[in-house]
Amino acid sequence: MFYPFFTIGEVDVDLRLAFLTRRAKGGVSTKEESISVESVRIGRGTENEVYLPDPRVPLRMAVMHHTATGLYVEAAGTTDLRLNGNVVRNAQVAVGDVVGIGPYEIVVEEPPEGKDASISVELVQPMGDDVKELLARSGTSLSAGGMSKRLWAWLLFLVIVVGFVGLPIGGQFLHSGDTSNGPAGMKNAVSFDIAWKSGEMLDAHKFFADDCAACHQTAFKMTTNEACASCHSNVRHHADPVGFPDEKLTEARCASCHKDHQGPRPLMIENQTVCTDCHQDLRNDVPKTTLVNVSDFGTDHPQFRPTISTDPAKDIWTRVSLDDSPKELSNLKFSHTIHMDAKKMRLPSGGTKQLACASCHVEEPGGGLMRKIDMETQCADCHQLTFDPSAPKRQVTHGKPKVVLRELREFYAARALEGGVVEPTAPAAVRRRPGTSLSVPERKEALEWSRERAVRAAAYMFSASQCGTCHVVVKGDKPSDWTVRPVRLTERWQPKSVFNHAKHSDMQCADCHQAAESKVSADVLLPKIETCRNCHGGGETVSKVPSTCTMCHGFHTDDQPPMVKPKEMAQK
Ligand code: HEC
Ligand code: HEC
Ligand code: HEC
Ligand code: HEC
Ligand code: HEC
Ligand code: HEC
Ligand code: HEC
Ligand code: HEC
Ligand code: HEC
Ligand code: HEC
Repeated sequence: MFYPFFTIGEVDVDLRLAFLTRRAKGGVSTKEESISVESVRIGRGTENEVYLPDPRVPLRMAVMHHTATGLYVEAAGTTDLRLNGNVVRNAQVAVGDVVGIGPYEIVVEEPPEGKDASISVELVQPMGDDVKELLARSGTSLSAGGMSKRLWAWLLFLVIVVGFVGLPIGGQFLHSGDTSNGPAGMKNAVSFDIAWKSGEMLDAHKFFADDCAACHQTAFKMTTNEACASCHSNVRHHADPVGFPDEKLTEARCASCHKDHQGPRPLMIENQTVCTDCHQDLRNDVPKTTLVNVSDFGTDHPQFRPTISTDPAKDIWTRVSLDDSPKELSNLKFSHTIHMDAKKMRLPSGGTKQLACASCHVEEPGGGLMRKIDMETQCADCHQLTFDPSAPKRQVTHGKPKVVLRELREFYAARALEGGVVEPTAPAAVRRRPGTSLSVPERKEALEWSRERAVRAAAYMFSASQCGTCHVVVKGDKPSDWTVRPVRLTERWQPKSVFNHAKHSDMQCADCHQAAESKVSADVLLPKIETCRNCHGGGETVSKVPSTCTMCHGFHTDDQPPMVKPKEMAQK
């Protein structure tokens, strides 16, 4: 390694080197060494005799020689040196001179006995100093603002303890008298509970949302059913807990489905896992059930099984799948095909009429299902219950056969007693001029005639031309035993679900009901699940109407017992 200088005098120099380190609390420690070299190299490289490990120093910074005139120092790279504060490239130095090399200072000292020269090296600007200086200028520290971190930590801790623990708990004792009265008592009291509120309440609960104790009766415990039941005592079970003592059903907490604090609407409920948790494996969990497993309307839901009359005499109703061509035995005769055929629909007054579905089927108020078929409003305009051509406007009241018979008897008895009947075959007593009185035998004869005519009219009435057009007539020995088989018209075909005609008013009736092609009333004209699936997908669908279970199924059904027993309530 060659440095650009020329040497005179001795070849080697005996040098005393002292490295000084100042301690934080004052005092200096010195590490000394002696070297004997031709020239003293100074820099960050480890080959240098004066090794300065600070990263701000170049690998080769300077070199020092002993000349006849004393020590000589010279910059070895591009970085200049400082001699007593002045920038230099090289210089002759004497005892007392200070050479600045980056953050270091080298002081030339009086050499001790036996040495040619002596220098001390000290790091006067450690790295940390610069960082500290920057920080001091930016002034971000709390203490710089006159505040200690510890003080703040304690202050915040106190605010949290007092505001969010102390006041809410203390508030319970302050108002303990009021809270037992429920939310009404709390209305005017300041409630600190709000500090713990963990989200927006259901709209329906907002009026007492700040009274946490109404639902959270015991601190640090989950909400109990009893708390909910103090207002919702009439909430029904979903399935009979006696028939199905399944833990998931009987032990179900209201809050397991009705998570509150989730915003204005009961969000959880729309999630179908609330239902499929049980229903996707119901047969396994409750072997007694007759229900089929369901996990999603779009992909895993059984064919509908409408409830139909299968044995009308014994009033037996059965759920039959629409895939099994069910036959409904209602005891009412009816052909949709005939009634939709305008040519056949001759009116009693003459002419014909084209009937529409709506002529007989009108939506219930509210638009859910169709109104019950009623003979008098829907059929009687055409199917008149007349019985005597001489009194074409006279009809019997539709309904009980005994009433029909009585009306017929009364009609003919009144006729006989009045007189003036024009029938040539009738006895003279009946044909007499109206207003004249009757002898006792005449009276007997007239009533005899009226009874006989009532039986004849009844026979006509219960024939295939009248009652028998629509009913299955049962004829006993005497007319008073005659009757019609009970009519079992279905009101709710699918009582385990809800359906709304009004929501489907854009559709044609025929899209769901192939009624016009039905020749007998035994046909079940309901749509299969495949029809619904044209539009309704499962809970997750994106291409159809997303349909979760509660869209079509109710909950807390009225025919079940309450979820919380009234007895348990009374003890509270
Ligand atoms: C209408 C009843 C009701 C009222 C009033 C109510 N909560 Fe809740 N809260 C619930 C239900 C339900 C949950 C769901 C947790 C569970 O299963 O019990 C819940 C959960 C919580 C949770 C979460 C704890 C957990 O178990 O998940 C906190 C915290 C909470 N409520 C605080 C409050 C505070 C504070 C108030 C008063 C400002 C309050 N609640 C008022 C019904 C209520
Ligand atoms: C202080 C009386 C009170 C308490 C306690 C109470 N509720 Fe209610 N809740 C009401 C009232 C009032 C309504 C609105 C009328 C209604 O639908 O019955 C309501 C409505 C509801 C609704 C229907 C919300 C809607 O938008 O249709 C649900 C679900 C409900 N509460 C569940 C709960 C549950 C679960 C609890 C127990 C954690 C509970 N409630 C506790 C008074 C109460
Ligand atoms: C297995 C889940 C489940 C449990 C447990 C449950 N509910 Fe419900 N709850 C429902 C569903 C589903 C609905 C219907 C919501 C709908 O129609 O969108 C409902 C509706 C309600 C309604 C509104 C009633 C209405 O006629 O609109 C109230 C109030 C209610 N529940 C209170 C309670 C109370 C009180 C309890 C505890 C005794 C409870 N629920 C337990 C699922 C549950
Ligand atoms: C805790 C378990 C459980 C949960 C949760 C549950 N069910 Fe049920 N469900 C039953 C049991 C048990 C029955 C009665 C079975 C039977 O009658 O054979 C039943 C019956 C039914 C029935 C037939 C009702 C009837 O009148 O016969 C329907 C429909 C139904 N559940 C729909 C739902 C819907 C929709 C949900 C979600 C909102 C739901 N279930 C949540 C257990 C559950
Ligand atoms: C003259 C009156 C009349 C007209 C018009 C009429 N229906 Fe009916 N409908 C009935 C009677 C009566 C019943 C009950 C007897 C039966 O089950 O067939 C009935 C039953 C039904 C049912 C119940 C399901 C079933 O299997 O019984 C449906 C659905 C129905 N009709 C649809 C229609 C449609 C759609 C039209 C139009 C194309 C229509 N009806 C026209 C009288 C009528
Ligand atoms: C617009 C007049 C009109 C109305 C309204 C009407 N019908 Fe008819 N119905 C007739 C006529 C006309 C016939 C005979 C058609 C034929 O066989 O040519 C008939 C035939 C019948 C028959 C025998 C043929 C068959 O369908 O099996 C029955 C049963 C019947 N109607 C029942 C009813 C019932 C039930 C209602 C009311 C829900 C009703 N009708 C409403 C005009 C009407
Ligand atoms: C045009 C068809 C038609 C004729 C004709 C008719 N009915 Fe009916 N009847 C019905 C219909 C439809 C019902 C069911 C709806 C109702 O109650 O209005 C019914 C219901 C009844 C019921 C009630 C059955 C029960 O189980 O609830 C009796 C009883 C009855 N009819 C007797 C008669 C008698 C008796 C006659 C003859 C005098 C007669 N009906 C004539 C159509 C008819
Ligand atoms: C688009 C409407 C619709 C949707 C969505 C729907 N169902 Fe149904 N579900 C029905 C109809 C309709 C029936 C037949 C009801 C009847 O026979 O009384 C039925 C029948 C059932 C039955 C009785 C099954 C049997 O054994 O015959 C159960 C249980 C049931 N559904 C549960 C569910 C569950 C759980 C979901 C959600 C995953 C669901 N349903 C979604 C319409 C629907
Ligand atoms: C989206 C399919 C759909 C359309 C469109 C539709 N219905 Fe229905 N209808 C049903 C279903 C499902 C039921 C069974 C409801 C129940 O009882 O559970 C039903 C039931 C009926 C019943 C039996 C009585 C009752 O209400 O339960 C009559 C009658 C009826 N529909 C007539 C009509 C007429 C008339 C139209 C046209 C105006 C029509 N429907 C359009 C699906 C439909
Ligand atoms: C042509 C498409 C279409 C068909 C087919 C259809 N639906 Fe719908 N349904 C709809 C639409 C659209 C809605 C309204 C959705 C909404 O309001 O978010 C709806 C709503 C409903 C609702 C909710 C009613 C309410 O009160 O909110 C029920 C339940 C339902 N449909 C049952 C059925 C059943 C059961 C069938 C099969 C018999 C069926 N739908 C067939 C399109 C259809």
